[in-house]
Amino acid sequence: MAWDRHSTRLLAVDRYHPDRAAVCEAGAVLRGGGLVAFPTETVYGLGANALDAGAVERIFEAKGRPADNPLIVHLNTYEALERYFPGLPVAVPELARRFWPGPLTLVLEGGARFPPAVTGGLATVAVRIPSHPVALALITAAGVPVAAPSANLSGRPSPTTAAHVLDDLDGRIDLVLDGGPSGLGVESTVLDLSGDRPVILRPGGITLSELEAALGSVQLDSGVDGGPCPEKPRSPGMKYTHYAPRAPLIVFDGSDADRVSRCILLEAELLAAAGFQVGVMACDETASLYDGLGYTVIKAGRRADPATVAAVLYETLRRFDRLNVDTILAEGVPAVGMGLAVMNRLRRAAGGNVVPV
Ligand code: TXA
Ligand code: MG
Repeated sequence: MAWDRHSTRLLAVDRYHPDRAAVCEAGAVLRGGGLVAFPTETVYGLGANALDAGAVERIFEAKGRPADNPLIVHLNTYEALERYFPGLPVAVPELARRFWPGPLTLVLEGGARFPPAVTGGLATVAVRIPSHPVALALITAAGVPVAAPSANLSGRPSPTTAAHVLDDLDGRIDLVLDGGPSGLGVESTVLDLSGDRPVILRPGGITLSELEAALGSVQLDSGVDGGPCPEKPRSPGMKYTHYAPRAPLIVFDGSDADRVSRCILLEAELLAAAGFQVGVMACDETASLYDGLGYTVIKAGRRADPATVAAVLYETLRRFDRLNVDTILAEGVPAVGMGLAVMNRLRRAAGGNVVPV
């Protein structure tokens, strides 16, 4: 079906003191059933009124998202959470005190007021209170809960700037609020509180050790750290290819940084000899090893501080698209702290193409 294109408007807003008129206009678009992309502290989201089934369905059309992959509902206050989810699990107040507003999503039972389009037909609803001033102002101005996945075409790297959103969705959505680059660069941590024990379904902006400090023990879902994705995963999003650049991506994963670089250099030489244009996603510490060999090298943060890798990860994958490389060879980072989220995204972007070294 040909997409019925209409024009997408771009409104610039100050990150810390978003312009009231712009935010009110965006809120009115949401109340009217339209789609608004907006910055959060993780990545840009594509918002719709979460109580309006038609508006939510428009998100799936615009992104080309499979209908069984549920959305995160964004709220602006804890009071709103209590209103929509009576009988919250006992862990919620402490998690909210520590991490909200912020990059933690909770999967909760109930939430019966949200249409099935939001939940993909599941009995649970994912919800978070974001900390980005523009996101909070928008939810407040809309006066409704805002369902929002990342504002990319399904399968593509998540957007961390308004330009990324337009690259994917120009002509498919009504409005983009441009509040500058989003902060963390990877999405929120998704924590399932609907079972006996808390389970991380997707690692993200709040780390495993931060959650353990709050809750005691926390389980990692089997799909998170490279284990086989179960046939019926608890988070439906886990079964789809995600975050993928256009060129095939191979991730080299190992604890010895020198060995990782040596293996990439060997592979790059073979590919270049076969006539391929090779891209290397390198850490700042090792990037100079690939200099002067004719490869397209992007420095993507410090191995010693994976949060710096997270911050530029999606922009780096999109830059390789713009540079038209044939294959991307990426250095893995240690899967601890924010490194767990980085490796989870890299592994998925590579479609599981990870070489242990
Ligand atoms: O940081 C973020 O979380 C961003 C910003 C915009 O808030 N949003 C985001 O949404 O990453 P999305 O749709 O790209 O990812 C939502 C993830 C998917 O993996 C989805 O399967 C999972 O959350 N999810 C949503 N509802 C769920 C549910 N009821 N049970 C299990 N997983 C759920
Ligand atoms: Mg997404």
